[in-house]
Amino acid sequence: MTAFTHAIVRPPGANFAQGLTSVDLGKPDLGLALEQHARYCAALEQSGLVLTRLPADDRFADSTFVEDTAIVTDRCAILTRPGAASRAGEVAAIEPVLRSEFERTHAIVAPGTVDGGDICQVENHFFIGISERTNAEGARQLAAILAQEGFTSGTVDIREVNGILHLKSGISYLGDKRLVLIDALAGHAAFSDFTIVRIAASESYAANFLRINESVIVSAGFPQFASRVRAFGYPVVALDMSEFRKMDGALSCLSLRF
Ligand code: GLY
Repeated sequence: MTAFTHAIVRPPGANFAQGLTSVDLGKPDLGLALEQHARYCAALEQSGLVLTRLPADDRFADSTFVEDTAIVTDRCAILTRPGAASRAGEVAAIEPVLRSEFERTHAIVAPGTVDGGDICQVENHFFIGISERTNAEGARQLAAILAQEGFTSGTVDIREVNGILHLKSGISYLGDKRLVLIDALAGHAAFSDFTIVRIAASESYAANFLRINESVIVSAGFPQFASRVRAFGYPVVALDMSEFRKMDGALSCLSLRF
């Protein structure tokens, strides 16, 4: 399992509620979102990570979702080119930080688009979701960069999968060859080498979680999934993500971990 020592985070800004969303769960409460973000940062620190805390960036309403701006690995960082026009400037805003943290950086270029939320790393392999945000050209460029860095990759087309914005809305790696998947992805040939842990339809939001070193950070409110993870022997930390969920965000979206 990849060992993590660092993460980059950015709190939501004053215009957080003006960000993109495809769900109808009401307007987020900024004060509560900031409290949830602070608890999220504390959980990352308790899992052993040193945080680089960026200031809120009110120019970009979705900028708390830093994961979409880059793919970070133990070998390099890859700057993405987000698929939503309103998010394009977020990459330039984070680029100097990534250049100072990583010896080598690469970048996705036009007409390629990639959102970090579509990229799921499993050891030295990357699943690349083709979605409304990540196009085939972005996936092709990313696969070439990953190959150059000694990683393998494969694509998973999620454009026909209802209810998920990004690939990682429906898949996370638990470690020990266990992949947690929503039902719609469970039969995909790309995952045939893994032990599949299916997530109940009523708990599909919980498919996005974080395995950080020895801990598993899950979204609060999904008791079946939390007890399955505990039964596998992992310590579980549950965090309330209600305000980020309203904006199509989940646990992985809020940090870049390396
Ligand atoms: N609100 C996150 C996104 O749509 O990119």
